[in-house]
Amino acid sequence: MNINIVDHPLIQHKLTLMRRVDTPTAHFRQLVNEVAMLLGYEVTRDLPIIMSEIETPLETMQAPVLKGKKLCFVSILRAGNGLLDGMLSLIPFARVGHVGLYRDPKTLQAVEYYYKVPVDIDQRLTVVVDPMLATANSAIAAVQRLKDGGAKRMKFVCLLAAPEGVAAFNTAHPDVPLFTAAVDRELNDHGYILPGLGDAGDRIYGTQ
Ligand code: PRP
Ligand code: URA
Repeated sequence: MNINIVDHPLIQHKLTLMRRVDTPTAHFRQLVNEVAMLLGYEVTRDLPIIMSEIETPLETMQAPVLKGKKLCFVSILRAGNGLLDGMLSLIPFARVGHVGLYRDPKTLQAVEYYYKVPVDIDQRLTVVVDPMLATANSAIAAVQRLKDGGAKRMKFVCLLAAPEGVAAFNTAHPDVPLFTAAVDRELNDHGYILPGLGDAGDRIYGTQ
C-alpha cells in the first residue's frame, strides 16, 4: 500500500478536536488550517534542494535552496480549500489549481463542475488536497483528470480516510502516494466515514 499515516501527536490531538460534534465552525476551520501546515511539512519532506552561494552579514556561504520548478497544490472543491489555505501559509510560492467535484448523494459518484490548473503542471510536483477520502470516487476522478491534463508526479493529502477508499485509490493510482492523519473504521451506507468528523465542507464553512 502506498500510504503514509502522519501520526504526529499535534496532528492527532487537533484531529480529535475536529471530530468532536461540539467544535464550532471557526475553531474547526482554524484546526484544519493548522493540521494542513503540519501535513504540508510532511508531504514536502523529500523536495529536492541545491546549494546556492549567498552572503550572510559575515561571509559568503553555500546554502541550500529548493531546486527547480516549485510545487502546485490542487484543491478538490470545495472542502479542499480548507486544507489549501494552511498549505499556502507554509508554502506561499506554490501555484494553485482547482478541480470542482461534488459527490452525487445517491450514486456516490463524483460529478465534475470546474477545472483550472497551471499550464506547466507537467513540470511541477502536484499535491492534491481534500480533507476526506471516503469511497475515493472524488480523489480517483480528480487524479485521473489531472493525469489526463498532463500532471506527472502527484501526491494526495487528506485528513481522514476510510479503508475502502484507501484500497480503491491504491488500485486506481498505485503511483500516487497517499498522506493522511488517520484511517478510520469503515464507511456507513451513505458513504460517510465512521467514526469520522461528519461532512468536512459543511463543518469548514458552516453550511449545515
Ligand atoms: C466530500 C469531500 C470529498 C468527498 C469524499 O466532498 O470533501 O471531496 O466528499 O468522498 P468520496 O471519497 O466518497 O468521493 P463533497 O462531495 O461533500 O463536496 P464539498 O466539498 O463541496 O462539500
Ligand atoms: N465526505 C465528507 O465530508 N465526510 C465523509 O465522512 C465522507 C465524505
